[in-house]
This record gives sequence, structure tokens and C-alpha cells, in this order.
Amino acid sequence: MSHMVTVGQRVYRMSSMIQDLSDRASSSQASLEDLRRRNAELVEAVAARDAFIAIAAHELRNPMTPMIGQVELLLSAVKAGKYSSQQIEQRLERINLVMNHYLKRASTLLDVSRITSGNLRLDPSPFDLADVVRGVVETFAEAARHGGTSIRIEVPLTCPGVWDRLAIEQIIDNLISNAIKYGARQPVDVMLHDGGSTILVQIRDHGPGVSPENRTRIFGRFERAVGPGEHGGGFGIGLWVVRQLVEAMNGKIVVDGAKGGGSVFNVTLPRHVEASRA
Ligand SMILES: Nc1ncnc2c1ncn2[C@@H]1O[C@H](COP(=O)(O)OP(=O)(O)OP(=O)(O)O)[C@@H](O)[C@H]1O
Ligand SMILES: [Mg+2]
Repeated sequence: MSHMVTVGQRVYRMSSMIQDLSDRASSSQASLEDLRRRNAELVEAVAARDAFIAIAAHELRNPMTPMIGQVELLLSAVKAGKYSSQQIEQRLERINLVMNHYLKRASTLLDVSRITSGNLRLDPSPFDLADVVRGVVETFAEAARHGGTSIRIEVPLTCPGVWDRLAIEQIIDNLISNAIKYGARQPVDVMLHDGGSTILVQIRDHGPGVSPENRTRIFGRFERAVGPGEHGGGFGIGLWVVRQLVEAMNGKIVVDGAKGGGSVFNVTLPRHVEASRA
């Protein structure tokens, strides 16, 4: 009887060892699969980063040649006394516009690297959102004229609250510049609605709009709903940066079809933003 017990115990121990070995085998199979998946994710992330560097280098280098060309042309015309002061002013305004645009592109690249490295920190402070919206719209006066369009603005007299000022400027700036770029030279509407504890910023254009199947995708990184190089090219990251900044402030952004055609980007933000990390 005691012999039987010993054999039984051995059989039991053996079967639990086999079970243990098979558990280990399936868990190492699972970690192998986990490793393969993480490796594939890393390969994809590196490829995305390389693509980004290539686009960034291209986009930052390209405007430089015409910019230098314009400065050289202006310089030699001025030296030869060829231009009137009004012509000089016009040329300088054009160069100024291109340089400001260039600076914004560089800032967007910096934002992307800050967001991806997890270094985006909010710095909330009290200010008047109506003032800031008016200020950003003013910076587009020349670009809108140049793009053959105009910006209409509808904001309350004041709209005090606490937000990250740079993030707010970057959000509105990106949305207006898209509305001018994709808005088929039709007027752009910038609206601010004070809803008490929440604020709604709306940027509406009257271009072709964004089709329903693209309305989520365009907020992704490197996503464009137009072909490469179309509409003067682009990184496909403007809206991704905007979404990261809006969500860092506990807000929401969605795009809808505008009445009568075009699109409307709705940004909802709490009135008071806490200091946080995105
Ligand atoms: N107002 C708009 N009307 C129609 N399509 C738009 C509008 N805004 C954005 N899109 C679409 O969403 C895509 C993503 O926009 P996003 O701003 O992220 O990138 P981009 O404008 O292509 O490049 P960039 O990174 O230089 O801003 C655009 O390529 C365009 O297809
Ligand atoms: Mg854009």
C-alpha cells in the first residue's frame, strides 16, 4: 500500500513537472511572440522617424533657395537704384511672410520632437482668449491676402481663463493655416463661443471639406487626405500636433462638414487648465 502511495506520488510529481515544463514552454512562446510584436513596432517607429527626417530636411531646405534668391534680387535692385520705396516695401513684406512661415514650420518640427520624447509640459497662465484669437488672426492678414482670401472673426469682447498660451496659439495657427491652404480661396471664419466652464473655438472654411471616412485619420501622425506634394506639400503632422496639444489641456477636437460645404474644426477646452505633462 505504501509502495503504491510512493509510485502514485512520483507519477503525480512527474505529471506536475511536465505541466510546469509545458507552462514554461508556452510562456516562452508567449514572450517570443511579445518580442516579435515589439520588434515589429520598433522597426515601424524607426521607419516613421526616418521618413519624418527625410520630409523635414526636404521641407526646410526647399524654401531656402527662393528666399535667398529674393534677397539677392532685392539687394542688387536697391544697389542699382531700380526700385521705388513702395516696391522695396512690397518685396520685403513678401520675404517677411516667407520667413515667418518658415519659422512656424521649424517650430512645428520642434513640437513633434518634444511630444514624441514626452517632453511636452503645459505652462498654464491666466489670459484673455478673445485677445489671443484676435492676435493670431491678425498675423494671417498678409497670408490671407496673398492666398486671395479673407478671415472673418466672431469672438466675444473678452473671454478670460487659464490655458497654455503657446499651445493655444499653435492650435489656432495650424487650423487657420489649413483653412487657408485647403479652403479654395473662400473666406475663413474664426469663432469663439464662451460656454462658461467650457470654451468652443471653431475654424470654418468653404473648401472641399474632409470626407467622413477621413475625419479621424487626418489627426494621425503623417496622415494626409491629399496626395504627396499637393496643396504646396506638407508634413501631415499639423493636426496631429494640434490634437496632442488639445488633449494635453483635457480638451477635444473634431472635424465636421460645414453647412453649405467645407469643413469646421471644433475645439472644446475647459476654461481652467491644470499644469500637466502630455
Ligand atoms: N480645412 C481642411 N479642409 C480639407 N482638408 C483638410 C483641412 N485641414 C486638413 N485637411 C486634410 O488633413 C490632412 C492633415 O492635415 P495636417 O495639417 O495634419 O497636415 P498638412 O496640412 O498636410 O501638413 P502640415 O504638417 O504641414 O500641416 C491634410 O493633408 C488635408 O488632406
Ligand atoms: Mg496643415
